[in-house]
Amino acid sequence: MSNKVTALVTGASAGIGREFARQLAPRCSDMILVGRRQDRLDALAAELNEHAVSSTLLSVDLAEEAGLARVVEAVDAAGPLDILVNNAGFTIIGAFDELPLAKQRTMLAVHIDATIALCHAALPAMKAARRGQIINVSSMVAFTPYKDVAVYGGGKAFISNFTGSLNVELEGSGVTAQCLVPGFTHTELHDREAFDHYDTPEVPAEFWMEATDVVSESLAALASGAPLVVAGQVNKKAAIAALEKDLAFIRQSMEA
Ligand SMILES: NC(=O)c1ccc[n+]([C@@H]2O[C@H](COP(=O)([O-])OP(=O)(O)OC[C@H]3O[C@@H](n4cnc5c(N)ncnc54)[C@H](OP(=O)(O)O)[C@@H]3O)[C@@H](O)[C@H]2O)c1
Repeated sequence: MSNKVTALVTGASAGIGREFARQLAPRCSDMILVGRRQDRLDALAAELNEHAVSSTLLSVDLAEEAGLARVVEAVDAAGPLDILVNNAGFTIIGAFDELPLAKQRTMLAVHIDATIALCHAALPAMKAARRGQIINVSSMVAFTPYKDVAVYGGGKAFISNFTGSLNVELEGSGVTAQCLVPGFTHTELHDREAFDHYDTPEVPAEFWMEATDVVSESLAALASGAPLVVAGQVNKKAAIAALEKDLAFIRQSMEA
């Protein structure tokens, strides 16, 4: 029996994705690490060497057809993946009609097109091997409508719903799909241009988490096959409050 354990992580050059790579490395023989910044991927691969893991680095833009195709090819060549983490992402902030449409579509290409293409590429071999775990990274915004992130939130709601449906479809197959829902997490996401006019220090301290904790909660939940992991107690409470608000609207509409 082969001891090969392969994980593929998108957005491995920073933040939550890099932390997934770090925490998965001790249990993997092979890793496929995806991101645009080659220097970051090189540095990560050098760091992961201590775990005797063999890293394949794919410096590609997932929003581009050719970039995504290279990752799909790598999935086909790898044989059954043990873990697939669809994490790459970014946000843009502003009124929907004032933000460039092309940039919003690029965001959906990274969040949605890349996620479904990689799940579609990985699943046949995972199902044939009767093993494998998929983690798709959503966001708290998927639970709660906020202004200025309509397409980001809509895209993440797709990821949550898609992953939940996939998990039901995969019942009994030996393969599971987890939707990971982080809230505010210290990463490079908030250093990017999109946040130039957004005051993150105004977000109360209790809402912030470290990527290490978000990722360890996600990986710990794999054992139970839980379809949904909302990271941290504060986010769990906020998610329940958001869902209860939705329920109240539905109840109100029944009484009307
Ligand atoms: N941080 C938070 O507060 C938070 C909250 C909820 C959800 N999330 C979600 O968590 C995920 C990870 O974000 P993060 O917070 O870790 O942000 P981050 O530190 O900015 O990392 C984002 C990662 O995605 C990669 N990426 C972005 N666009 C890409 C593209 N076109 N092609 C290939 N790779 C691309 C980046 O790599 P390159 O720049 O090298 O390409 C980087 O590795 C995202 O899906 C985000 O929506 C984050």
